[in-house]
Amino acid sequence: MNCCIAGLQWGDEGKGKVVDILAEQSDCVVRYNGGANAGHTVIIGDQRFALHLLPSGAVRPGCRCVIANGVVVDPAVLMEEIRGLQERGISLQGRLFISENAHVVLDYHKLEDRLREEALGKNKIGTTARGIGPCYADKVGRSYAVRMADFRRPEELKEKLRKIISYKNKLFSTLYNAPPLDADAVFEKCMSWRAAVLPCITNTTQLLFEAIDKRQSILFEGAQGSLLDLDHGTFPYVTSSNASPLGLGPGCGIPARYVDRFIGVAKAYSTRVGGGPFPTEQNNEIGQYIREKGHEYGTTTGRPRRCGWFDAVAVSYTVRLGGITEAAMMHLDTLAGLEEVKICRAYRIDGREITFFPGDSRDLETAECVYETMEGWKEDLSEMKHYSDLPASARRYVETVEKHIGIPITMLGVGPQRSQVIYRKPL
Ligand code: GDP
Ligand code: IMO
Ligand code: MG
Repeated sequence: MNCCIAGLQWGDEGKGKVVDILAEQSDCVVRYNGGANAGHTVIIGDQRFALHLLPSGAVRPGCRCVIANGVVVDPAVLMEEIRGLQERGISLQGRLFISENAHVVLDYHKLEDRLREEALGKNKIGTTARGIGPCYADKVGRSYAVRMADFRRPEELKEKLRKIISYKNKLFSTLYNAPPLDADAVFEKCMSWRAAVLPCITNTTQLLFEAIDKRQSILFEGAQGSLLDLDHGTFPYVTSSNASPLGLGPGCGIPARYVDRFIGVAKAYSTRVGGGPFPTEQNNEIGQYIREKGHEYGTTTGRPRRCGWFDAVAVSYTVRLGGITEAAMMHLDTLAGLEEVKICRAYRIDGREITFFPGDSRDLETAECVYETMEGWKEDLSEMKHYSDLPASARRYVETVEKHIGIPITMLGVGPQRSQVIYRKPL
């Protein structure tokens, strides 16, 4: 059974937790998009793991971890993450595989990300400053790109970095008046990672073909959320990869027909970090209540997340976009204590009511939300184990969302722990 997990909103939906749960019955977990901009939290007892580059299956000892070609790899973050797990008794030895075709994030990408955002001022995207956009731009541009396979050929890499950094220095000094970078220093850093990364570098597409032939169970872990998809999200306030399940094929070489289940993860409300339209945003005491109760602060950057009501127009769209077959709704516990809860069922734009997601996201800036308002619940859900334990109003809320998004909600999160999930059907 192969399964893909993807975010249905603007990221941070709780994918890490769902991947961790499903990884127990998976032979390997594959990251296929994004890079260290992701922050996936796994909480096991009193241990909290925040994974940025490693697939969340890393915390499950026998699970193979694949970083496929669609990921942009920052070796500095990777080394740090491997070391962090090692210190907690979890070894990646022999079970981490990195695509030779994955592109490498280097210091000049992170510098460019920061310089560009600073120059944009109030029009900035609000990136994670992890060098993601500049690295993917180099990938598409082709002439100045470094891939993991380049670690195998140090002499060529040295020459390549000289050429790239000479180009970047001209660019950065002209555009941003930035001091020059030293190509040899960047090369030396690469050499310091080389011994550790070399044994992991491989043809991950072939590895996955073989896993499919052996009928092993593969779990694909999407990063970010479908509304941040470069082509189908709220452009330009998106990330630079295909963050919906549409990114799966190009990101790892495995077409969707080999995937049996597409599980979309959504929160019981909405959050967003960084800039961009957010029709259901509650920039008021409701948003604040959700932020504090749900600990809505970024896993990667620590930034406070913007919070708002569940947007069924947006999620219906991402369900279709991703071929999603079932949903996992996280943070139902966080909504407890609100008098009433709301679901956005349509937008009103220029006086017209629409139930589809606009293609030009500038239209979202002026969208007024048409809400279905429901009674809230006061009970603490965090210890509840069965759907029937939930208060009637919480069940009504879940079933109303289900009706709007058109697919079953099979898992409900009632707390951050692995165990705090209500299953409405067996895994
Ligand atoms: P990801 O990027 O999709 O993996 O999500 P993040 O890890 O960035 O953010 C989700 C946050 O919500 C983490 O702090 C999780 O520990 C937490 N979380 C996940 N599911 C639940 C839930 O059902 N209830 C509560 N209260 N917290 C949850
Ligand atoms: P996970 O996998 C939430 C957002 C950034 C910014 C935009 C572009 O943890 O769900 P980038 O650094 O990618 O160029 O930033 O995308 N963003 C995320 N928001 N969760 C994420 O990942 C995100 N990754 C990027 O905040 O608005
Ligand atoms: Mg996150």
